[in-house]
Amino acid sequence: MTNFANVYPAHINELQARARNVLNRENLEGLVIHSGKELKVFLDDNSYPFKVNPHFKHWLPLTNVTNSWLLINGHDKPVLIYYQPVDFWHKVETLTDDFWTPFFDIKVITNAAEVDALLPYDKANYAYIGEHIEVAKALGFEQINPDGALSYLHFHRAYKTPYEQALMRLSNERAVAGHLAAKAAFMAGESEFEIQRAYLQATSHTDSETPYGNIVALNENAAILHYTALERNKPEQHRSFLIDAGANYHGYASDITRTYAYEQNDFAALIARMDKLMLNAVDGLKPGKSYVELHCETYLDIGRVLAEFNLIHCSAEVAAEQGIVSTFFPHGLGHHLGLQVHDVGGFMADERGTHIDTPAQHPFLRTSRAVEAEQVYTIEPGLYFIDSLLADLKASEHSNAINWAQVEKFKPFGGIRIEDNIIVHQSHNENMTRDLNLG
Ligand code: GLY
Ligand code: MN
Ligand code: MN
Repeated sequence: MTNFANVYPAHINELQARARNVLNRENLEGLVIHSGKELKVFLDDNSYPFKVNPHFKHWLPLTNVTNSWLLINGHDKPVLIYYQPVDFWHKVETLTDDFWTPFFDIKVITNAAEVDALLPYDKANYAYIGEHIEVAKALGFEQINPDGALSYLHFHRAYKTPYEQALMRLSNERAVAGHLAAKAAFMAGESEFEIQRAYLQATSHTDSETPYGNIVALNENAAILHYTALERNKPEQHRSFLIDAGANYHGYASDITRTYAYEQNDFAALIARMDKLMLNAVDGLKPGKSYVELHCETYLDIGRVLAEFNLIHCSAEVAAEQGIVSTFFPHGLGHHLGLQVHDVGGFMADERGTHIDTPAQHPFLRTSRAVEAEQVYTIEPGLYFIDSLLADLKASEHSNAINWAQVEKFKPFGGIRIEDNIIVHQSHNENMTRDLNLG
């Protein structure tokens, strides 16, 4: 079990230092971070699942508290205004001593409106950081999510402290337990719905606690990139299984994908080849490398796989140059991971938020930033047989470059994606997913 008491103080020190820098740079006195509040469904008295403000859970492992606040000035002990209503309808999160509690000056409120008396009277130099603009205005804030402050915080969020890295390892551990259970359910011939139940059981998550909607796709459904339908019936035959599913640990996400073949066949060989390609891409992730370059190298490598598996008649180079590879690999190589699955800051050149464009040929790439130590990335190359994209390719000038009979052979398997979560260290990469022996 990780002893958070060893790593948490340095995390708070680092966030305090970032706060001092940004407040100084933006001529602000403080940040006022709102955890959020429940959002009601239209014309209903039920709420959507609550998702806490990522800036809030950056400081402390509270993911379920609404109407709570952090007051940060970078010097004094951060103030936590903690909402504990007297409520016999809902469970109220009780406050118990934990590794993080000594680091906050905690003030309890029982009514959300009581916060007003605890906030600075003159808010001209305080920035509200949160989702609820109407709340910020009602409280008298003028600086609401100011761009300059957010750019700074988002740029620096890419560097994970040892505390955050520990949480992300645990988040991987939780997800890997789910992946092993899901694989067993697939091999036992279960439906997508039953596989999902096995995953949730093993991770001890409800489906709203996972960091994103799990993708649990059998056969052709693996070709639908964000497939979340969860078919209740078993298919007639189990051919392939793609699962993209993560977990949460104290608010930090993992994001892992595996693809399995039910039998040893050409699709299984294609998975093994993509696994090799994927691990090679992980090796390419290094401090100083541009993520765009790594994406482009992997894109060409997928062209090589298409040639090796007799899916194209042209060379890998031509398939890459002409954009043919995009039919089979229509998304980016990966993204920053952390408090959010697609963590912020991926396109930032600097702490002012200067945007780095991705190449026009790769519009879906979510990261254009230089790779540096202490950043956490996913690497997730894919190769799919997607009807609509194949139809476009067939109708294009490149149709003759494709071995359509071979494409038809693979179509019933849907596609492949393999995704690991990597911490880049100065001297080596730490593949948190493989370290847990998820093959
Ligand atoms: N699970 C979404 C993604 O892999 O980016
Ligand atoms: Mn994923
Ligand atoms: Mn991902």
